Amino acid sequence: MSAGGETIGIIGAGWVGLVTGACFADLGHRVIVRDVVPERIEALEAGNVPIYEPGLAELLERNKERMSFTLELSDVTDEADFLFICVGTPPTYSGDADLSAVWAVVDELPQLERRAILILKSTVPAGTGEKVRAALEARGLGHLGYASSPEFLAEGRAIEDFLHPDRIVVGSFDSADGKRVGALYAGIGAPIVYSDVPSAEMVKLASNAFLATRISFINEIANVCELTGADVEQVAEGMGLDRRIGPHFLHAGIGYGGSCFPKDVTALKQLAGNSGYHFQLLSSVIEVNELQKRRVIGKLEKHLGALAGKSVAILGLTFKPDTNDMREAASIVLGSRLLAEGAEVRAWDPLAGRDSYLRGARRCDSVLEAVTGADAAVIVTEWKELRELASEKVRSAMRNPLIIDGRNLLDPAQIGRAHV
Ligand code: NAD
Ligand code: UGA
Repeated sequence: MSAGGETIGIIGAGWVGLVTGACFADLGHRVIVRDVVPERIEALEAGNVPIYEPGLAELLERNKERMSFTLELSDVTDEADFLFICVGTPPTYSGDADLSAVWAVVDELPQLERRAILILKSTVPAGTGEKVRAALEARGLGHLGYASSPEFLAEGRAIEDFLHPDRIVVGSFDSADGKRVGALYAGIGAPIVYSDVPSAEMVKLASNAFLATRISFINEIANVCELTGADVEQVAEGMGLDRRIGPHFLHAGIGYGGSCFPKDVTALKQLAGNSGYHFQLLSSVIEVNELQKRRVIGKLEKHLGALAGKSVAILGLTFKPDTNDMREAASIVLGSRLLAEGAEVRAWDPLAGRDSYLRGARRCDSVLEAVTGADAAVIVTEWKELRELASEKVRSAMRNPLIIDGRNLLDPAQIGRAHV
């Protein structure tokens, strides 16, 4: 990649921070990454990656000469002209975004003399940038530049998404700052949308909310299909070929999870409410998603009767394949409900860490172990290992050959052959 030659600070070494840092280094910039968790920084210094993201270890290794890791914010602010805030913005109890980690960074900034640019990459409510700018001014840091450059990567394909995005969004108070930030992405052949700061912040929230809306919509279509004999996969294919609709995010299933859709949809709903507007559509999107996770329980009861004492295999725990991330995974709701009904839960996942397994569930090291003697198996995550689940071997291992395909993963013809 081209040598950009700027020095970039990354504050927060999570999914977004590490991928952003490694990709900017790959574009030729020097990158200093700061986190507050000592084990995280120690691991990174030792060449270990604290998260699972395909290709990230190789990218960090390839760019190690251009990257350094630190616990000290001053190591970043002493050197970097661009300070990307990539800390988490989880939901608070009220559903609003918890910006305490963002504020901790702003409050910790030293009295910089030069005109560094602070860039908020974390997902935040529209209006946050205005508040940060006011706080900077109050602290005598009004000469710093400020931009919002939200991130659109998806876990499991984060590097590809960062290096080949559909668009890059840069919102700024001063257009010259925006152009300097936009120039950091040189080498990436995507359109850059320059905007004001609140609009950039809103592009991110609106994009996630729209994608989540599509998922809840197709899930409701799937529910109607089940009652009317239509096949939602065929319906989605037919809909998606209409260019005004498009094929993406029309995969029906057990509901959306992860660290972003649930929190961002709720945060946008709350932001609207706090601003005096009732965002009715998003309330429905959220409700449909919650009900979708629980529909599986109804299906199990329909086939098995009361679930107390029944053994159910949960196949896949992470919120989607190719990640070890369990945040807001459908498996947590499903597993908790099953355990509350008195069912025995066997859990299998190829990547979810041992400590993230559902409390009270039995961990199984293989799919076959999980289904052996089970009264039902539920596909919660579409891991490739599960594509051949509808087999004679699985059928004979199960006490009762019932598979609930929560991701429409299985081939109907194969299901017929295996009689599950
Ligand atoms: P994460 O929880 O994986 O990482 C956040 C990191 O910030 C942690 O390592 C934490 O220790 C660190 N941190 C907290 N306070 C800090 C401080 N004061 N200084 C330095 N580091 C600090 O979060 P993430 O998944 O990378 O998400 C970060 C932001 O990006 C969120 O706002 C999220 O909504 C958004 N986002 C996430 C994704 C994704 O796929 N994960 C995609 C797009 C946008
Ligand atoms: C999502 C967005 O895709 C990213 O653009 C965004 O940057 C990110 O959130 C974020 O803001 O953090 P991610 O959560 O990593 O990325 O994963 P997705 O692939 O979007 O899947 C989210 C959830 O929706 C998963 O549970 C997935 O199973 C579900 N999903 C997705 C469906 O049920 N159907 C679909 O058609 C697509």
